[in-house]
Amino acid sequence: MEKLIFFLAAVYAVHGFPSANVSGHKVFCYYDSQSYIRETQAKMLPSDMEPALPFCTHLVYGYAGLDAMSNKMISLNENLDLAKGHENYRVVTRLKLKFPHLKVLLSVGGGADAELEDSYKYNTLLETQESRAAFIDSVGVILKNYQFDGLDLAWQFPTNKPKKIRGKLGSFWHGFKKIFGSTPVDEHAEEHRSQFSIFVQEMKNVLRRDNMILTASVLPNVNSSIYFDTHALMNHVDYVILHGYDYMTPKRNPKEADYTSPLSELMKRNPESNINFLTNYWLQNGFPAHKLILAIPTFGRAWKLNSDSVISGVPPTPAEGAAPEGPYTKHEGLLSYPEICTKLNNPANHRGMHTYLRKVSDPSKRYGTYAFRVPDDNGADGMWVSYEDPDSAANKVEHIKGKKLAGIAIVDLSLDDFRGLCTGDKYPILISAKYRL
Ligand SMILES: *[C@@H]1O[C@H](CO)[C@@H](O)[C@H](O)[C@H]1NC(C)=O
Ligand SMILES: *[C@@H]1O[C@H](CO)[C@@H](O)[C@H](O)[C@H]1NC(C)=O
Repeated sequence: MEKLIFFLAAVYAVHGFPSANVSGHKVFCYYDSQSYIRETQAKMLPSDMEPALPFCTHLVYGYAGLDAMSNKMISLNENLDLAKGHENYRVVTRLKLKFPHLKVLLSVGGGADAELEDSYKYNTLLETQESRAAFIDSVGVILKNYQFDGLDLAWQFPTNKPKKIRGKLGSFWHGFKKIFGSTPVDEHAEEHRSQFSIFVQEMKNVLRRDNMILTASVLPNVNSSIYFDTHALMNHVDYVILHGYDYMTPKRNPKEADYTSPLSELMKRNPESNINFLTNYWLQNGFPAHKLILAIPTFGRAWKLNSDSVISGVPPTPAEGAAPEGPYTKHEGLLSYPEICTKLNNPANHRGMHTYLRKVSDPSKRYGTYAFRVPDDNGADGMWVSYEDPDSAANKVEHIKGKKLAGIAIVDLSLDDFRGLCTGDKYPILISAKYRL
């Protein structure tokens, strides 16, 4: 015991006493810069992040893009990001003056650069040494110029084709079996997988000179076993961020509403469409747990219910495409956490009864929260939304602790309740997750 105390005292003398961040878990906080150009309550400025940043170890600014002609990393909105306009690249890295513990990364891709389905340029770039070098050089210039601490490769690999889970009513299994033997989206997937490993190594060799961090994000519906060679990557990335959400979305699965980010496998669903499968894939293929981060969404996916929908709300239920946009985010089929919580039927909300959503929480802690309202007599106004709340986020933290992962990512700050509209407390999902760590 005494020896241990001496040892710890020596360690703390060198590295600083870790009282504030006892757990040592990482908290990556994503900031989607597009939130800057939203309106009213959804408009988020970098300064709005300040209450969140004491709880974040890393801030990730999204998203830069890829210019297919020059193979360079570029700003997708120069007026927002660069010197001639708001210069947010500089604004966010300057947050380090106020929050010296913070590392600020730039993320490229992330589904923001063209629709994922037609983002084949991300694969093409991998194919030659020249194009990879052009990209890597351009990254070096931007990161250094704006004093970022590293890069997140949120590489836009082709996504799985959406699959029907519901064949004829009641026979989920039939619909599901069809997924086997479905044609691969990328005929050269094997080459792209090994080229990506080389690319990551080349990128890290350059970033290492400046002590910069490299992370790789596994985007929703990108098949890890196709594109990520765990052994080849593990020595060249600092972290891999697993974006375990959007397994179901109104866009990909307009006819059936279901849990979008379950921790565990659900009966009669694709056994790969859950977080447990995802984290196990990486761990079982030898990737170190201390480099794995689980991303937790702060938004819900919302479908429109119709007269075929299940009255009880129990998923999966037939649906009729995306629910109408929310009042602040104005994006069909997506609702931010405050847009959902202010619709829930609870004593804090005192508006017209018919607009309420009934919340169904998850005592099993394995599947997530949803809320719904059945259509009215005219078949209108029905809605079903699968979403994260402070409790389900805390359950995900228990999952990463059980598997000894490095930490979590919050995706993203702009869709958490950054104004405190639900209960008056700002960033309830981030804070709940952080305190469970
Ligand atoms: C984590 O540690 C840094 C200093 O190293 C401190 O500024 C920050 O407030 C800590 N975060 C929390 C949540 O205590
Ligand atoms: C992922 O790819 C593997 C083959 O590498 C395949 O067996 C599996 O079904 C795919 N998963 C999904 C969800 O498409």
